[in-house]
Amino acid sequence: MRGKKINEVFKNAESFIHFSAPGRINIIGEHTDYNNGYILPATINHYINLAIRKNNTNSLRAYSQEFPGMHIYEYPLKKICPEDGWVKYLKAVLFTLQKEVNFTDFPGLDVYVTGDIPVGAGLSSSAALEVVFLFALNELFNLQLEPIKMAFLAQEAENDFVGVKCGIMDQFISIMGKENHAIFLDIRTMNYRYIPLYLNDYVFVLIDTSVSHSLANSEYNIRRQECEEGLKILQNCLGLDFKSISEVKLKNINRFKEKFPSNIYKRVLYVAEENLRVQEMINALRKESFNQVGQLLYNSHNGLKYLYEVSCPELDLIVDYLKASEGVVGARMMGGGFGGCVLALLEKNNVNKIFSLIKDKYSVVFHKSPRLFPVTITSGIAKETNYKT
Ligand code: GLA
Repeated sequence: MRGKKINEVFKNAESFIHFSAPGRINIIGEHTDYNNGYILPATINHYINLAIRKNNTNSLRAYSQEFPGMHIYEYPLKKICPEDGWVKYLKAVLFTLQKEVNFTDFPGLDVYVTGDIPVGAGLSSSAALEVVFLFALNELFNLQLEPIKMAFLAQEAENDFVGVKCGIMDQFISIMGKENHAIFLDIRTMNYRYIPLYLNDYVFVLIDTSVSHSLANSEYNIRRQECEEGLKILQNCLGLDFKSISEVKLKNINRFKEKFPSNIYKRVLYVAEENLRVQEMINALRKESFNQVGQLLYNSHNGLKYLYEVSCPELDLIVDYLKASEGVVGARMMGGGFGGCVLALLEKNNVNKIFSLIKDKYSVVFHKSPRLFPVTITSGIAKETNYKT
């Protein structure tokens, strides 16, 4: 359902300022961010666009073209409730920012949102909405916040007010993404490096299972707790100097295998192996060694399926079919899991052929259609100066 355009909703729409923030893929390094490990995400050509202005009232008025209906809240804003729908992300950002900059309340605001990042597909539409709103507020109130600081504030909004204990990946990449590059980020130090993506005759595509990752939030928080439990065990064995699982070598994890409950051992093992895969992926991409790139994608999928246990039958089936198809370099489930998308590296010329075979097989088993999104690697958040109302 699509609702009204900005100038059909708000008068004098030319007085808004506009920002847009992209969604992301993550080439490899899944569930490693909140374990202080390595990630390799990139921004894609799907965006959340947000327009904002002060409205000289005592209210926040928010409208989304994709979820039509005006939301009006008088200040002081009350805490997040189910009726807020998508506006919960705006409220979460406002609450976080109020604490950060000591505002009692913001002046009244008109906010208009539209976008094409599919919701629930694991492409970070919520992180994009949080960062785009923060950047817009930063500009409107001249808050002079640094970009990385805003990534952390957006994460805090999601952790403390939305209630998902996500890591920093999605907010960071939506801000820092660069055209035709992925970012290698070491979360422990926050050092990062842009990795050029020369893919020759290949292209990354997303295949959306059309399964909304509804389990993801609760299971996601459980995985975090399990990793914290794993860390405590490792600290007992190795000392308190270790602040995250990612600092512990694989051989030490295996040395103390019998100290872990079996599910915790699997989680910890997965994280250590996935961190190694991120480093190997960077080398494989640099050498344009696509066989190795593909193998790393499949290995990551297996880890997520058997050790971290965040996959689902729909994701597994797509990966299995792809593995058996010609013209496929590699594939894996992407993001938090339990639905969302498979990321696949395919021969450019064969994308449609491969997808149509997958689509038919998938529809027979699951009685619904997957969706194909070819992706272009774009830049992070930007102010839009030529926006047409
Ligand atoms: C979600 C979270 C990220 C990250 C991924 C899994 O997208 O928001 O912080 O943990 O899942 O890699």
